[in-house]
Amino acid sequence: MDTSGEDLQTLCRSGDLADGGRAVPFDVVYAGQTCRAFAVRYRGQVHAYLNRCTHVAMEMDWQPDRFFDDTGQWLLCSTHGAVYRPDTGDCAGGPCRGKLFGIETLERDGIVFWRSQYHLKPVEF
Ligand code: FES
Repeated sequence: MDTSGEDLQTLCRSGDLADGGRAVPFDVVYAGQTCRAFAVRYRGQVHAYLNRCTHVAMEMDWQPDRFFDDTGQWLLCSTHGAVYRPDTGDCAGGPCRGKLFGIETLERDGIVFWRSQYHLKPVEF
């Protein structure tokens, strides 16, 4: 598939993301800094965010790639318990200060992509 011109970056296969399950991590360059990001599936849709809590700018998963709570309904920061909505990144409780930084995704023909933007770039190898 030709994704040139769309700024689409391959993230994972669709089957790698189970609803309410483990996240798939990926790296981005955000505002010139390499940052971790993650994708999850929630109610069938893929959502991706920078792995950076809005309470304190640190990664949220104490256990790698586990962001959902036990119910699979909320994303948690393991440090102080901030709670975020999986579909919007909005704060839903705890000490968060605003919403997670969302990354646009696209799912096509069994492949999940994320879309780069002027301040959000793939890591150059
Ligand atoms: S760093 Fe995430 S809740 Fe404090």
